[in-house]
Parts: sequence; C-alpha cells; structure tokens
Amino acid sequence: MRLFLDTANLEEIREINRWGVLSGITTNPTLVSKENDDPEALWKEILAEVEGDVSLETTEPEADPMYKQGLHLAQMGPNAVVKVPMTPDGLEAGKRLVAEGIRINVTLVFSPAQAILAAEIGAYIVSPFLGRIDDVASDGMYALRQICEIYDIQGYDTNVLAASLRHPMHVVESAIAGADIATMPYDVFVKLVKHPLTDVGLQKFAQDWQALQRNLKGGA
Ligand code: G3P
Repeated sequence: MRLFLDTANLEEIREINRWGVLSGITTNPTLVSKENDDPEALWKEILAEVEGDVSLETTEPEADPMYKQGLHLAQMGPNAVVKVPMTPDGLEAGKRLVAEGIRINVTLVFSPAQAILAAEIGAYIVSPFLGRIDDVASDGMYALRQICEIYDIQGYDTNVLAASLRHPMHVVESAIAGADIATMPYDVFVKLVKHPLTDVGLQKFAQDWQALQRNLKGGA
C-alpha cells in the first residue's frame, strides 16, 4: 500500500519525504486555501518536491469548464493527477479526460455504488472518504472493504485510495482491507512512527551506553 500525504503544506511534505516512505500527495481546495498562497505556484512547487503522484482538484462545477480545467491541471507536471468530484458532471468531464490519456482521481466518494461508477469511467484512482462516513454514524471501513472486494471480483484496475483517515488504525485497517493507497494528514503520518516502547527503549540504550563510557574513562 502506497502512503500519501493529504496536505498542500511544503514543510510537511519535506519532513515526511525525508523518511523515504512518501509515494504521493493529495490536495483539495480546502487544503490549498489553508496555505493562503497562489494555487498555481503552490501546485508547481509540490509537483517538483515529490516524485510520486500529486492530485490537483478541479473546482469548476460544470462538465465542460471542469474538463478544460482538468486539461490545464494535467499539463502542470508528469506526476499530476486530476481530481474530479463524484457528480454527473464530474463523471462526464472525468471520462473525457481519461479519453485524453489523463490520470484522474474521482473524489468525494462515500459508497460502493459510487466507486463502481468511478471504475467504469476508467479512473486511475477512486477516493472513498472513510472518516467522513464515520462522522455520519456509518462505517467507513466497511465501505472500503466492500469497494476493495468489488474491485477484486470485477477485475477493475482503478486504484483504491483510502482518504479522510483520522488515526493510525485507519491506516492499518485500510492495508488489511487491500487499499492500494492511503492518504492521511501530517499529524496521522507522524503518529505512524511513534510508539512509547520505542522511546523507552531508546532512552535505556542511551543511558547504558553513557554508563559504559563513564566506566571506561574511570578505569583508564
Ligand atoms: O483530501 C481528501 C480527504 O482526505 C479529506 O479528509 O479529513 O477533510 O475528511 P478530511
């Protein structure tokens, strides 16, 4: 399972990128708005910062302008992936972009039925939003498991990207469900590396090493 960072913040991207585990970035209009910067310039910097896929989201609601915006976003870099929403216009624009050889990510997906539609238009990625499904007292992980099972049975090539992840167990369970990609905010990514026993173990090793150095100096 590839690990993506769900952010438009360059400092967060640089920090996780240095770990050697970052396979891509997902952005959306909310994340870009948080940076309060020119979107085009920001997207270019992000595209240059990582080798993997970078999802850039369309904002035009109607099919034709969305398609044209998608063409523009796609030419921003070889690693650009164009996000379109799960709407009739998004499907129309998405299918036209796919016909142009552009890789699309169908976003705002909340059900297996929607995920089937995304696969049928030949999407490169489908993004079910697990956390937001949980927010409305439904089961996001169950929806993800169903989508992965359907894609497996039907032989769909579309990559399942588990999105709207809120904690490390969302990431672990997405991997067990068979998701191809998990995208998560910086704070969740940082939690993946942390374990209290690692901290305790490291402290003990350091103490014992220092004690050895003192003993060796004392004995000299
Ligand atoms: O970027 C799409 C998705 O991951 C958004 O997550 O936390 O805003 O529900 P969230």
